[in-house]
Amino acid sequence: MMSDTFEPKIVAFVCNWCTYTGADLAGTSRMQYPANVRIIKLPCTGRISPLFIMKALEQGADGVLVSGCHPGDCHYTAGNYHARRKYTIFREMLHFLGVEPERLFFSWVSAAEGRKWADLVAEVTDTVRRLGPRRSAWGEPVEGIAAPRLSANPVPFEAPAGTFAAQAEAMREKAKALLAGGEVGTVIGYEQGTLPGTARPAFVSTPEEVDRLVWNEHCHQNLAVYAARKPAKPGKVALVVKPCDERSLVGLLQENRLAREDVVLIGMACHGVQSEGALAPRCAACQTRTPALADPVIGEATPPTATADPRLEQIARIEQMAPAERWNFWQGHFSRCLKCYACRAACSLCTCERCLAEKAQPRWIPAPPDGAGNLSWHAVRAWHLAGRCVDCGACSAACPADIPLYLLNLKLAQVVKDAFDYEAGRDPAAAPPLTTYREDDAQEFIR
Ligand code: FES
Repeated sequence: MMSDTFEPKIVAFVCNWCTYTGADLAGTSRMQYPANVRIIKLPCTGRISPLFIMKALEQGADGVLVSGCHPGDCHYTAGNYHARRKYTIFREMLHFLGVEPERLFFSWVSAAEGRKWADLVAEVTDTVRRLGPRRSAWGEPVEGIAAPRLSANPVPFEAPAGTFAAQAEAMREKAKALLAGGEVGTVIGYEQGTLPGTARPAFVSTPEEVDRLVWNEHCHQNLAVYAARKPAKPGKVALVVKPCDERSLVGLLQENRLAREDVVLIGMACHGVQSEGALAPRCAACQTRTPALADPVIGEATPPTATADPRLEQIARIEQMAPAERWNFWQGHFSRCLKCYACRAACSLCTCERCLAEKAQPRWIPAPPDGAGNLSWHAVRAWHLAGRCVDCGACSAACPADIPLYLLNLKLAQVVKDAFDYEAGRDPAAAPPLTTYREDDAQEFIR
């Protein structure tokens, strides 16, 4: 959209030591540049949280510029290296949500580069002026553009006859032995749910109770969510785990939420799980069918039934949408959010003692379950799980509003894999990608 009269509001988050001083130099040298930029000074790019970018957009900024010291020059040694990784992921997430990438700018400007700062501000202002005002407020749909819908073809669920029954028997035997021998005080597994064709988490603490435990295609909940909680009964906990549950535990081990010796894992070789009468889409091409940490692993896994993950097709279709369509696609889904936080409760890696959603000073996430609050909540949650989510599907399964949260998490997993060659939940000894950096990390998006 072109406008001759539109004057964009651009928020610039800059580090104190380089870019702010460079901007100061531009001023004291009487260099001319547009007055559209509101500068917010922070100690280091390492302190410029992506949440600041989100908040600026929520508050009506037309564009955001983040700038700090050149690589190797950070006053705190590595703040900019860590920031670069964060922005790599966060800008891709905003793009996937429908924010035009041309509204976000990242740069390195040193204290000596007053000219670079002045030219950069001129370029940023010109670019955003040509783009025009944002087409809708944060969390509101763009008027006159339909919210595209996606559908997926169900994949039938198939598992070799008798597989589950044999595994269930072996699992119960192991659970009884652990409880009878006093090795654990509680076994957390699954039992028949209230309705036929369902299963739910079960906590058993005596050998006599073990016969309640079941194992079948309905055991989809990720029981790792209980792993870091204080057990109700004395003694260790044994967890019945599928491979994706176990990958969540790897994340908890990496983050020191529990120690490996705190939990006994009864690993179940996997055949996929059912979702709405079909194979859960995430299971169709899943290659991780056998738990890697558990001892013992019970049964033989069923090989994947598909060569490609059917959800990748959905992601590709979202990426083909124009930004306004993509924006409306997500606003359409997020508009159903009830802010019940079931996604958070079901997630074994949503482990903050006090969630950002509950912090009122500052209020990063608008509290009401409306457009702005819902978008901010899901953006923040996905961002916090970047490089950590193991794609267990628990959040999407728990969502009563059928929001396809897995698409956002899976997209960020792709970004992390492409940018940092890292997959969450594989190696307990590996450093998660947002806790580390490489000096030669890609930075082609930074000027
Ligand atoms: Fe400038 Fe760290 S002090 S980026």
